[in-house]
Amino acid sequence: MIDLGVCYYPEQWPRELWERDARHMRELGLRVVRIGEFAWSRIEPRSGELCWDWLDEALDTLHRHELRVVLGTPTATPPKWLVDAHPDILAVDEHGHARGFGSRRHYCFSSPVYREQSARMVTLMAERYGRHPAVCAWQTDNEYGCHSTVLSYSRAARERFRIWLERRYGTLQALNRAWGTVFWSQEYTDFAQIDPPAGAVTEANPSHRLDWRRFASDEVAEFNRLQVDILRRHSPGRDVLHNFMGFFTEFDHHRLARDLDVATWDSYPLGATQNFFLDADEKRRHAFTGHPDIPAFHHDLYRGMCGGRWWVMEQQPGPVNWAQWNPAPHPGMVRAWTWQALAHGAEVVSYFRWRQAPYAQEQMHAGLQRPDGSDDLGAIEAAQVARELDALREPLRAARTRRRAQVALVFDYASLWMADIQPQGRDYLALEACFRAYSALRQLGLDVDILAPQAALDGYALVVLPAQLRGDATLAENLRRSKAQVLLGPRAGSKTEDLQIPDGLAPGVFAQLAAVQVQRVSSLPPGVELELRLGDDGPTLRATRWCEQLALRGAQVQARLGEAAGGGAALTRMDDCWYLGAWLDQAGWVALIEHIAPAAGLAVQRLPEGLRISRVGELMVALNFSDSPVCWEPPQGEATRLLGARELPPRGLTIWKLLPAASAH
Ligand code: GAL
Repeated sequence: MIDLGVCYYPEQWPRELWERDARHMRELGLRVVRIGEFAWSRIEPRSGELCWDWLDEALDTLHRHELRVVLGTPTATPPKWLVDAHPDILAVDEHGHARGFGSRRHYCFSSPVYREQSARMVTLMAERYGRHPAVCAWQTDNEYGCHSTVLSYSRAARERFRIWLERRYGTLQALNRAWGTVFWSQEYTDFAQIDPPAGAVTEANPSHRLDWRRFASDEVAEFNRLQVDILRRHSPGRDVLHNFMGFFTEFDHHRLARDLDVATWDSYPLGATQNFFLDADEKRRHAFTGHPDIPAFHHDLYRGMCGGRWWVMEQQPGPVNWAQWNPAPHPGMVRAWTWQALAHGAEVVSYFRWRQAPYAQEQMHAGLQRPDGSDDLGAIEAAQVARELDALREPLRAARTRRRAQVALVFDYASLWMADIQPQGRDYLALEACFRAYSALRQLGLDVDILAPQAALDGYALVVLPAQLRGDATLAENLRRSKAQVLLGPRAGSKTEDLQIPDGLAPGVFAQLAAVQVQRVSSLPPGVELELRLGDDGPTLRATRWCEQLALRGAQVQARLGEAAGGGAALTRMDDCWYLGAWLDQAGWVALIEHIAPAAGLAVQRLPEGLRISRVGELMVALNFSDSPVCWEPPQGEATRLLGARELPPRGLTIWKLLPAASAH
């Protein structure tokens, strides 16, 4: 299916409205409705007292209007009676304080009682609605990890961590070696001595911290798996999905997604633009449109998780309430974001939420409708996309067999944790490095697949690893066998699986490929910039934040630091492998990719400011995120225009159908 949807909370509105709501959803062209994910206290107001009548009626109403339902399991919000009966289901912060009731996500993933209670609730729901004709999919819980809830320092977590360690290492000797506990007399003689890494006087052991994060990530996956197994048993033929978050890396999404049918994510471009690492100028420039590559980055990331099946489960419909500043999107942005998702291959784009709530925490968060039930701009734009989609659904559906992009970007959660634990410089941000590299590729008109480190790499022309700190021997072998140009970013292979410096120094398992050795690293304070000249007569770039001293072990120098910075190699090449030993800003990444592209046989072009193009099957979609009109079209003779004009107005889009020769390359 290729459809639009919406998140709806029937329990928050009088029943008299439901029929009208459902009818109006249909009128707007919405076809999928997610409900239920926070409704535990209405399903079970007191222990064992089950109230299904309202949910029966809500489902039947939606079904009557031929709306397909994604039913959420309500485990993100254990009700008060449950917390009071079992206070140990609460998550515990690193100071030992239980997290309080009164918002959401207050549970601990490791609590055996909460696992039991969740399994009980999910079973009840799945037994009752698993075969309901309206139910097309299930969403497990809601946004695992939101509000910093992956780590819990509860007693249950501590006990399970010890078991997890014993399983991982087998012996204390192996654990002591992996963590290097001889340092500062940290040696353990019994697994029962090991606590979570909290409360230490100064920095806790980095390998201990990494394992704690790995353990917590596995706990999330296990909690999810418990629900998935129940849903599959009672609800045959329905997809099971979860809604991940943007720029959220505290558990391994690749691992968890293995148990799902569809990876979905919640896209709030303006909130993300304000809350993440963009600089002040970028935040200002993209305040009303969002940075164009923030949604795209996540679309491509989540597309890589479940064999290409992915949705936007929550799409920003207007201003949100939770970012530092919450501008209202420019008119046209809800349509543009929706088309952007479809152009990256989304099966469903679902807006959050149907109607703005006049009460409680999110009363300042827009919906498609205002609190009085009138349509807000988001509803009008969603309806416009629904009409446009009717004419283009077929080619989009055909694009399900979307060919690969020519460029792959490897995204490794464990590497991000390693960088987080040992940044070495305050602004060495591995996630930002991945985003900057991705954004450069997009600014040059390239489509990108974002892949797990264990993914197959055959068929790509270029593989970029902006922050692959963790030396992974299988990945190194896959890179060696691929015919692609490989670009390794700074710190590649600088850590073993245990977070130690590899024998032979960085880039460790990638050393043979890159034919360099990193002899020293320098993190650079703000304001320190080193010049870096690309090629003999290429542009001068700026290295900031991070710089490495490279010894050549067969590689050729492609860029040198300026004289003032010692003149050493900053970019090297050995056959098909390029090694970058410095942090580049956005402009630097663009110049670097431009420099490497010919070797990969990639035709690149600097797109006009704010313009992005995406190929999906035989369609090509161009979107203009800027405030001025932009003229752009595919090279002559490659395509026919299906929607929009050659000149794209601000926030406008144009869709072409590529001619067979052009869509095949
Ligand atoms: C998401 C969440 C929704 C709602 C929304 C507001 O994080 O899943 O329940 O809170 O954000 O933007």
